[in-house]
Amino acid sequence: MSNVLTEIHDDHRKYSHILNLIRFELDKLNDSSNPSYIRLYDIMHYMTNFPDLVHHPLEEIIFAELAKKKPELSETLAQLSLEHEKLASQGNELKENLHRIVSGDIVSRKALIDSTNAYHQLLTNHMNTEEGRVLPLIDEAFDENDWSILQAQIAVLHDSVFEEVIRKESAQLYERIIQSPELVE
Ligand SMILES: [Fe+2]
Ligand SMILES: [Fe+2]
Repeated sequence: MSNVLTEIHDDHRKYSHILNLIRFELDKLNDSSNPSYIRLYDIMHYMTNFPDLVHHPLEEIIFAELAKKKPELSETLAQLSLEHEKLASQGNELKENLHRIVSGDIVSRKALIDSTNAYHQLLTNHMNTEEGRVLPLIDEAFDENDWSILQAQIAVLHDSVFEEVIRKESAQLYERIIQSPELVE
């Protein structure tokens, strides 16, 4: 398996963990008890940084090449691209609402539950499609020449100072989120 695929699978494992944490806080919201709004805000801050600004652009590079090799996947890949945009817009909206809550504003509990649920569902379905239907086809679709073309494009993404800063800050934020004391596995 290529290093790039390993990187994508590793990222997805982190996002699965994040999805469990969102579900944990959502259950508290649904029970009319108090979730950790700060942790939810941290989660959405994380999700709207590394995944939206690095992980999804990396997938976009790969999916664009994959669509050329596997035209039968074109519709699925176009849908995944659309979902990258939706994840960014819904994620940012949710983050803004959580920011309002932790700043003391009143936000409708039902609206927060609905938007958190919608984000959780979208990300769950999105990753299931990637892991179940798209990523397993990548190794057979690309030969060494394809990978060297892809690596050149990926290198441009990875070489930016911008990406380095996001990667470092996101790694610290992820550790803080998963180490927060209320976590129940
Ligand atoms: Fe994706
Ligand atoms: Fe992904």
